[in-house]
Amino acid sequence: MSGPGGGSDEQADGVGAPSAEDRGGAPPRPSRSQRRRRRTEEAPAPTAPGDTAPDDTALGDTAPVDIVAGSGAPAPPRRAEVAAPAGGPDADGLTSETIVRRRVDRPTDGWRGLLFTATGGRLNPGVGPAEHARREQVRRIRRPLGSAHQIAVSSINGGVGKTTVAACVGLVLAENRGDRIVAVDANPNAGTLADRLTGDASMTVREMVGQIETLRSLADVARYTSLAGRLQVLASEQDPAMSAAFERDEYERVCTVLRRFYDVVITDSGSGLVHSAIAGTLALADNLVVVGSPTADGASRVTKTLDWLTVRGHADRVADAVLVLTCDRAGKHVDTARVRRHFENRCRAVVEVPYDPHLATGARIELDRIRPATHDAFRALAAHLADRFDATPVGVGADLVRHRVEALPPAG
Ligand SMILES: Nc1ncnc2c1ncn2[C@@H]1O[C@H](COP(=O)(O)OP(=O)(O)OP(=O)(O)O)[C@@H](O)[C@H]1O
Ligand SMILES: [Mg+2]
Repeated sequence: MSGPGGGSDEQADGVGAPSAEDRGGAPPRPSRSQRRRRRTEEAPAPTAPGDTAPDDTALGDTAPVDIVAGSGAPAPPRRAEVAAPAGGPDADGLTSETIVRRRVDRPTDGWRGLLFTATGGRLNPGVGPAEHARREQVRRIRRPLGSAHQIAVSSINGGVGKTTVAACVGLVLAENRGDRIVAVDANPNAGTLADRLTGDASMTVREMVGQIETLRSLADVARYTSLAGRLQVLASEQDPAMSAAFERDEYERVCTVLRRFYDVVITDSGSGLVHSAIAGTLALADNLVVVGSPTADGASRVTKTLDWLTVRGHADRVADAVLVLTCDRAGKHVDTARVRRHFENRCRAVVEVPYDPHLATGARIELDRIRPATHDAFRALAAHLADRFDATPVGVGADLVRHRVEALPPAG
């Protein structure tokens, strides 16, 4: 397929390709000025003011011709008088739009991708609706971020999939974005985030807090994190007695430092809402993810979580929260769609994460081992979160962060 502006003799002349005459070949072609003169003689003259030139003048090869006074002969066109093509600085119309061939939109998913690949691109059924939707989600996930953004993942009850959600959404954000993303285990009860992502909990948030005043650069902070792909992971203290002693103030200090060096900070908040560390991460969050399950008892716990937050002055957060329903235990006896509709009236969005055998192992998570539908669900969640990336933070937490970040010495 030839792209715009590809391939004609006229254009080859226009870019100064050597002519047969120049190369000494035969038969001699009429010279460029001869051709131009001939064309000018053949061209119908404008009959009235405002008449436009024929379309091919846009190439600049048949510019308006002066008649040399007294001679009746056309004067050679002056370069400065050649009309520049609209929208391009180059008088010959050589812009990337006119000379670079457009790339075919290649399908990669399903039968469309198979057909395209098998026929070497000769048969292109086009990109299907599912692939379009996925590309649109990725476009949303890549939304630019003005300032550091904190996401809290929480629930009132344990074992509903908070750590799994925090880990997977962190991996999806990190795989699609170019900025720095860190996932922090803020679970006061020896959390499992590092186990699920890197298996490395040799350095924890407790060690980091001990040295927090000395952290001046990204390299200083990165000594306390481990890496899962492009996602940085900060483990929680693994001794339950020590980790339970962590208080709100300590997590606020950790989050404040992380926001200086990372663009997105994801906190796995642990279960419950009243522990001061969890209350701290909730207060600091720009984006809230509530995790629950679509069972009778699970739905009532989600309702309790949302009510608890609402009565404590976080009604705006509840309305803007994304609810994740982990469907690992929901059987066909549960009307998941009904649960979903109910919570769609209370929150910004509801995402259902299906049962996934790889996630059910409880072992280290590898994104390329989860099912496509599960990957889609986490991509949808990441896109909803990224929709808020350029929003101005609201609430008490945002003010607190602003104060603290402004009070810190400049990053070294
Ligand atoms: N979509 C899923 N499909 C299958 N299993 C899942 C799914 N999501 C989570 N699980 C499994 O459920 C168990 C509990 O998940 P997870 O540890 O994420 O919950 P949690 O809310 O963080 O628990 P805790 O409150 O103890 O921190 C884990 O073994 C996990 O692998
Ligand atoms: Mg957990």
